[in-house]
Amino acid sequence: MRFAVRKVGPDEKSRLQEIGELTALAYLADGLIDHAHPYLPQLRDAAARAQDAELLAMIDGERGEGSIVGTITLVPPGSPFIELAEDAEFELRMLAVSPIERGRGIGRTLTQAAMDRAVEQGATRIVLSTLDTMHAAHRLYERMGFRRREELDWVVFDNEDGSVTRVPLEHGEPPEGAVRLLGYSWEP
Ligand SMILES: CC(C)(COP(=O)(O)OP(=O)(O)OC[C@H]1O[C@@H](n2cnc3c(N)ncnc32)[C@H](O)[C@@H]1OP(=O)(O)O)[C@@H](O)C(=O)NCCC(=O)NCCS
Repeated sequence: MRFAVRKVGPDEKSRLQEIGELTALAYLADGLIDHAHPYLPQLRDAAARAQDAELLAMIDGERGEGSIVGTITLVPPGSPFIELAEDAEFELRMLAVSPIERGRGIGRTLTQAAMDRAVEQGATRIVLSTLDTMHAAHRLYERMGFRRREELDWVVFDNEDGSVTRVPLEHGEPPEGAVRLLGYSWEP
């Protein structure tokens, strides 16, 4: 394969910018968010993910000299990027593949790389959240052995500053204007 997956460090400024733009583009291209969405700056901020979690990228070229084609963030226990994980669980976030490179196994390879790194670090469980509309991601995660876990679902209102406010599920349904995140988990 002519792609290389590697961790990207907090000092790699131009790579971080490239990864941030790719992540935002991947979500925008699928209509998962629009340009005014408060989550967009967080998707763009790859530097924060490199600082406070493990930012992985797949880079074109055997020696990783080409463009970024995809990214995923592995969130270890204790990281401020934790949304769903508890105790010693690891979490996967912000998987994104360039819209022109999809369907070639890049998303799968990145997810596998993150899972392998988590297991190397002693993970006994990995969790993640998706939006209902992320059909490709659902298929990918299920094919990789993640199980849909309704009891891990959570519901949020998006705040202007990009943060979210969690609200309880009302009679199994999110309140009006809130978004339901679908939980998945995987054990080695
Ligand atoms: C999800 C995403 C990362 C997949 O990237 P990718 O490199 O195309 O993934 P792969 O090629 O490894 O696998 C894609 C799988 O999804 C399937 N797929 C693609 N589009 C699909 C769709 N609309 N509905 C259902 N399955 C779909 C493919 O058939 C493939 O499954 P298969 O190998 O069982 O045939 C990419 O679509 C993306 O960036 N989406 C926007 C961001 C996102 O949703 N991120 C998830 C965060 S939780």
